[in-house]
Order: sequence, then structure tokens, then C-alpha cells
Amino acid sequence: MSEDGRTGPDPWSAAARSGDLLRERLGAHRCVVVLGSGWAPVAEQLGSVLATEPVETAGLAAPGVPGHSATVRSVDVDGVPTLVLAGRVHLYEGHAPSSVCHSVRAAVLSGCSTVVLTNAAGAVRPDLQVGRPVLVSDHLNLTGANPMVGAPPPGDPSERFVDLVDLYSAGRRAAVQQAVPGTPEGVYAGLLGGSYETPAEIRMLATMGADLVGMSTVLEAVAARHLGATVVGVSLVTNLAAGLQDRVAHSEVLEVAGASTDALVEVLRAAVATA
Ligand code: HPA
Repeated sequence: MSEDGRTGPDPWSAAARSGDLLRERLGAHRCVVVLGSGWAPVAEQLGSVLATEPVETAGLAAPGVPGHSATVRSVDVDGVPTLVLAGRVHLYEGHAPSSVCHSVRAAVLSGCSTVVLTNAAGAVRPDLQVGRPVLVSDHLNLTGANPMVGAPPPGDPSERFVDLVDLYSAGRRAAVQQAVPGTPEGVYAGLLGGSYETPAEIRMLATMGADLVGMSTVLEAVAARHLGATVVGVSLVTNLAAGLQDRVAHSEVLEVAGASTDALVEVLRAAVATA
């Protein structure tokens, strides 16, 4: 077992302990927003920030990638008490699936019934525009991992295998599209990552039905659904995927994200509004 228990045989009670800590330190919230690569500037503009904690004091894991800062904030988003996790940990950093999902599990166990997962993504479908937010309508989990592998969760054994039909709430997508007309939707392919893809891999993903590609989100979505939360996914298209443009670089991903803050805030506020 790891020191903090996140990657040990009982990630469930580790998440419950962090959930208690979150509630003690920051109070109760209805919604949690996880900010992906480059989404950090959005945190300040989503609503009034009531409190900020370093993730470690809330018992959460610190991210190690540029563009992911390590804080958890309590934010009033148009009257909805919302936890904002700036940054996440990834499989490609060498973390176990239970570590990747720890913060989301803790947030749900602390009382958040809506989980909004954001990410930076490459567009596999070329009509998706760089700098635009896209609602995730479904996913392909191609990470080779799943947060439900391992010791069975406590509770009803009939819930061992999580139902993933309508994983990304159709109702919430419709609500966002009503608030921000023209917001497109797409299927997000979540890969292990560590490198960007080859052009051949992107052609394969297109054939498989992917519209977007990235290195996060899918495990957290499964973990959130398992705990009964409503899940919303929002990708920011930061580049056209490999082969559709010359080069893909992390600096470009962060730059595009930084220039798109207003559009991201608009879509996120609409996603939180009905929580
Ligand atoms: N591929 C994978 N992950 C990404 C990309 C991409 O093109 N852009 C931003 N995150």
C-alpha cells in the first residue's frame, strides 16, 4: 500500500477520508469542476472564490504537469456551491487508476452530485475548431485501464459492473446547448498518453468513431458514474490531431487554452447552472 492509501488495496476508504476532509475544510458543495490542461485561468472567472486550499491539505494528489496548478477552491458559481480542482494527475505520469480518480471520488463522497470534467483535446474531426469548447457526448476508453479493476467497491455487489449508457448526461448537454447555442458535441477517445499520437493512430481513431483525442477524463467519468454522480465532459480543442496539422506541442495547447477563457467560462457556467 502507498503511504496515503490511494493506490493501496482499499482506495474506497482513502477517497471517503479525503471526502470528509474536503467537507471539513471547505464545506458542502453540489458540483465539482476538474480543470484540464490550460484551463486554470478559468477558475478565477467562474464565480466568487470563497476559499482556496492547496490540494495536499485536502488529502488530494498534486499534479506534476505544466499547466496544472495544485489547488482546490470553493467557488460560488451563480448560486451553486462548486469545488474547483485546478489540475489533475494522469496515468501517463505513472499514477494508478485509483490515484487518477481519487480527487473525483473524494469530491463526490463529500457531497458533489455533479462532476464536470474538462480537458484539452486534439480534434480528430476536422470541422471542430481550435479554441472552441466541445461537449463530450460519449467516450472510447483506450487507456488500457479502468478504475473499477481491483478490490470490489463496498456496497451492493450488483453494482460491480458500472452501466455506462448515457454516461455524459444528455440532459445537461441539452441545457448547455440551450444556453450557448451552437456548442458542438463529440466522442472523446481517451488514450494512455505520454506522447502525442502518430497520424496513423489518428486515422484509426477516426475510423473507430472518435471526434476528439486526449489523455484524461475517461477514468474519472467511470468513477464518478459508479458513485452515482451526473457527469458532464467539456473538451477544449487546442489543436488538430496529428496528421491534420504539422506538429502538436504542449506549449501550443496551453497558449490556445489561455486565449479561449471567455468561451470556456460561458460553457462551464451553463454546465454548472443546473447542478
Ligand atoms: N492528442 C492527445 N492529447 C491532447 C492533444 C492531442 O492532439 N491535444 C491536447 N491534448
